[in-house]
Amino acid sequence: MPNAEAPAPLSALFEAALKARGHAHAPYSHFPVGAALRSASGAIFAGCNVENAAYPSGLCAETAAIAAMVCAGEREIAALLVLGDGDEPLTPCGACRQRILEFATPDTLIYCSGASGPGVARTMDELLPFAFGPARLAKGAAS
Ligand code: THU
Repeated sequence: MPNAEAPAPLSALFEAALKARGHAHAPYSHFPVGAALRSASGAIFAGCNVENAAYPSGLCAETAAIAAMVCAGEREIAALLVLGDGDEPLTPCGACRQRILEFATPDTLIYCSGASGPGVARTMDELLPFAFGPARLAKGAAS
């Protein structure tokens, strides 16, 4: 019998991202993206890209998933999976790497996925090395 306390399996993140991708609003790029993250509590939050006729006003899927987590009162990403169109793994864009970092640790795993499954796992530190994050800002403010 599965342990109710166990974190959601990777397949649950993949399924949530897949479902979110199905709701993407991507009439300009025709590139739907879904993301799903597991927070510290074990809850799953998903998001899709939401494009806009004023192109720079669009949102990435990871951004939408992070906003859902924060809106629910949580602040820690335990793992995040992002899923693009096609088989090739989708790696988060630069701006989203920075947004994920805000709520992650250097060891947080990011699953860069394609249609066939969870794909390639990389740590936050691998995706955004030598990063500027909250810890560095706090050090500056103290001095
Ligand atoms: N996109 C994401 O949602 N996440 C990424 O990490 C990469 C790009 C979206 C933004 C835009 O709606 C579409 O993919 C094409 O760039």
